[in-house]
Amino acid sequence: MSEVYKRKYTFGEDYGTSDYKFGPITLGERPEVIENRGYFPDTSSIMFKLMGVKKDVIVGKDLAVHLGSREELTSHLVYPMRKGVVDRGDEKAWKVIYEITRYGLDFFRQSDPDFKGFYVCAALSAIAPRYMYEKIFEIHRKIDEETKLIKAVTIIPQPLAVAIAHKVPTCIVIESGHGNTQVCPISRYPVKGAMVVLNRGGSDADALTSQILYDAGYSDIAKEEALVRRIKEALGLVPRKLDEAVEVAKQKPELFRAKYRVPGTRIEVDLGKESWARFLIGEYVFNPKHEIFKSYFKRGMPKPKDVKVGEILFRGMLDLGESVIESVEKCPIELQPYLYGKVLLSGGNFHWRAPPQFREVAVDSATKLKLLLAEKGVENVTVEVAPEPKFSVWRGCIIYGYAVPEDYTWSWDNMEGWLRIHD
Ligand SMILES: Nc1ncnc2c1ncn2[C@@H]1O[C@H](COP(=O)(O)OP(=O)(O)OP(=O)(O)O)[C@@H](O)[C@H]1O
Ligand SMILES: [Mg+2]
Repeated sequence: MSEVYKRKYTFGEDYGTSDYKFGPITLGERPEVIENRGYFPDTSSIMFKLMGVKKDVIVGKDLAVHLGSREELTSHLVYPMRKGVVDRGDEKAWKVIYEITRYGLDFFRQSDPDFKGFYVCAALSAIAPRYMYEKIFEIHRKIDEETKLIKAVTIIPQPLAVAIAHKVPTCIVIESGHGNTQVCPISRYPVKGAMVVLNRGGSDADALTSQILYDAGYSDIAKEEALVRRIKEALGLVPRKLDEAVEVAKQKPELFRAKYRVPGTRIEVDLGKESWARFLIGEYVFNPKHEIFKSYFKRGMPKPKDVKVGEILFRGMLDLGESVIESVEKCPIELQPYLYGKVLLSGGNFHWRAPPQFREVAVDSATKLKLLLAEKGVENVTVEVAPEPKFSVWRGCIIYGYAVPEDYTWSWDNMEGWLRIHD
C-alpha cells in the first residue's frame, strides 16, 4: 500500500460550472472532461421505453444524442451549478452531481486485483459553503456503497489546487472559468477574508460574441450557445490597448479579418468589415467597464451585476486589475509584495493567445493583466498563465491527493485530510 498504491490510484475531480474534469493520476497531464449537466428525459414517452433507456438522468459523452427539440431542452436539461455553487435544496441539481461523479469513477473502473478503491481529491469553488462539502462526501459514500470504487475522499478549494499545481505557497490565484472568477490570495492556505469574487466568466464573453454575431447578420448562429462559444475561442483577441487595436484593425481589415468555418457543416462566419470587433471580446473579459460596451448593454446584452449567493457578494463590473489590488490590499502589508510577486492565472477564460501576426496590438492574458495593474500604479508584478489553464485545478488535485498521507484524517476545523470511505 501507500505511495506505490497512491501513485496508481489517486483520482482528481474538478467540479466546474460548465465542465467536470476527472480522472486518475495515471492520465498524466490531461483529465477526461464532460459537461457538468444532466438530461432528464420524459420517462412517460413510449419512445423512451422502446429504446430501453433505463436511467432517469443521462450525463456524459453521449448526452447530446438524447437531446430533443430546443423547446424541450430548457425544461429537461439541468446545469446544476451557478457560479460554482449548487443550491442546498435543489434535488435535481444534486442528482446530476451524483450522476457525473458516478460516471467519472465508473469510467475508470479498474480490473487490477490489487485495486481497493481510489483516493479521491475533489475541488470546489473557494466560496463553496459547508453543506456542499457534506453533500460531496455523502455522494461519494453512496457511490462507494454501490461500487466499492472509493477508499477515501478529500476536498480542496480550487485556487489552492492551482497554487499546488504550480508549487507556489505564496501567491494570488485568479481562477476564471465559465461562470465565475475567484481572486484568491494564498499564503499556504487561501486567505478567505481577502478573496474577491466576480460574477463574470467565459459565459459573459459568449454573450458579447453572440451580440457581435447578431449585429453581423448571423442571428441564427447567435442563438446556438455551444457554437458561439467555439467562435469566441477561435476569433476573440485580447487588445493591448483597445482603442489602438480597433484603429489598426480598421486600417488593415484583411489582416484582421475574422473567419470561422463550422466543422462538419457548410456554414462559414465572416465578420468582414466588422472584424475589429474581435478585440472587444478579449477586452470584455478583463475590463467590461470600457465605455464602448455601454451601447451593447443598452441594446439588451446582460450587464454583469453584483449578486449575493448565500453570504457571498459576487461583483459584476470590477476590472481584473482592480480586483487583484482590492484582494491584495485586504492582506497584511508585509505580505503584499510577495503576493504581487506571483500572480497565477488559471481557468479556460484565460486561455487567450496572441498570434504572432497580431503581436503589435494583441497580447496574452498575463500581459493584459500587467497592463491593467500598471495603469493603477502597481509595477514589478509577475504574472503567469498556467500552461493548460483549464486543467490546472485537476492537476493540483492529483498532486495534493498523492502527497497527503493516508493516515491523516479529515478535520472539519482545518478542512483537510482524508475522509475514509471504506477499509
Ligand atoms: N482557447 C480559449 N480561449 C478563450 N476562452 C477559452 C478557451 N478555452 C476555453 N475557454 C473558455 O473557458 C471557459 C471554460 O473554462 P473552465 O473549464 O475553466 O470553466 P469551468 O471550470 O467549467 O467553470 P467555473 O470554473 O466557472 O466553475 C469557457 O467559457 C470557454 O469558452
Ligand atoms: Mg473551474
